Amino acid sequence: MFQSRAIAADTKLLLYRELAQQLEALLAGERDPIANAANTAALLFHTLPDINWSGFYFLREGGELVLGPFQGKPACVRIGAGQGVCGAAALRREPLVVQDVAAFPGHIVCDVDSQSEIALPLIANGAVVGVLDIDSPRTHRFDADDEAGLVRAAEIYIEATYA
Ligand code: SME
Repeated sequence: MFQSRAIAADTKLLLYRELAQQLEALLAGERDPIANAANTAALLFHTLPDINWSGFYFLREGGELVLGPFQGKPACVRIGAGQGVCGAAALRREPLVVQDVAAFPGHIVCDVDSQSEIALPLIANGAVVGVLDIDSPRTHRFDADDEAGLVRAAEIYIEATYA
């Protein structure tokens, strides 16, 4: 049991290392925020196991988050300032991992299949410009290694697009 868990952790670290390399290559030389968000969402969706949604919300007037490029089922278009997991992550300016969305007060249901979620604020030049959101159909999907790997993916998006 211990050994298989250790192998799984190694595999995950390798997966995120390769994901970072692929994402850097995919976004290299392109600064368009929509194009880069579309390719980031697609790469995450098709690379990570056990996820049912990956995508972007962009911060608009009044602190509202508005749906951007994504992969998965159609999703809520507008999230009010501070609302839901995404709004909370934008407000806190820190990644927010919710291991069981049913236990998170204010969670916004876009897809009833989603059971756990990670929302990563996108911060460019000190300002929040949006949120990268990833959902899973099982609880407790995202551990510290996932968080670190996805923080890096969000950084690569920001570096390519806003640097
Ligand atoms: N569940 C999110 C809304 C976005 S969807 O999951 C795609 C939230 O509570 O902010």
